[in-house]
Amino acid sequence: MTRFSVNDRPVEYRMEPDTPLLWALRDASNLTGTKYGCGTGDCGACTVDIDGEAIRSCLVTIAECEGRFVTTIEGLSRDRSHPVQQAWVAEQVPQCGFCQSGMIMAAAALLRRNNNPSDAEVDAAMTNICRCGTYPRIRSAIRLAARVMRGEERIAAAPPPGIRADDAARAVPALRPES
Ligand code: FES
Ligand code: FES
Repeated sequence: MTRFSVNDRPVEYRMEPDTPLLWALRDASNLTGTKYGCGTGDCGACTVDIDGEAIRSCLVTIAECEGRFVTTIEGLSRDRSHPVQQAWVAEQVPQCGFCQSGMIMAAAALLRRNNNPSDAEVDAAMTNICRCGTYPRIRSAIRLAARVMRGEERIAAAPPPGIRADDAARAVPALRPES
């Protein structure tokens, strides 16, 4: 039994302790915003926040998360109002979108500890891979989000999502709980 907090809620996983966190989040918690890319720690698509640090969840076991605070893209903000999410929309960053939740989680962790990063610090923190090559827009969005977090600029709020997350999950048969 492994207990920790996911998106501010206590969770107890009845899975093998060496289960990768990514598996538990996606398969047991239905938090599919965290993506399964390489599974080997190379792409960053599975990035989540653990105790304020951007961590690749395919490389961490649930046993290693015991007692810690995990935040996924679903928990970054209830209404997509986090400055990084708003900047992502304003800069129209995503292309196919696959890498984007990991990118956003990495950017949010960076800006939480440093809201005025240099280009070199952004490059050092953003090692995730985007097969669509959205890197220039990602850097622009991070700079915009940083200005917003420093109170130098405002972004017109992005429209709210057109579908609730639990409604979206219900339409995916493989994710229905067993009866
Ligand atoms: S799926 Fe974890 S780094 Fe690629
Ligand atoms: S937007 Fe397609 S992989 Fe990054």
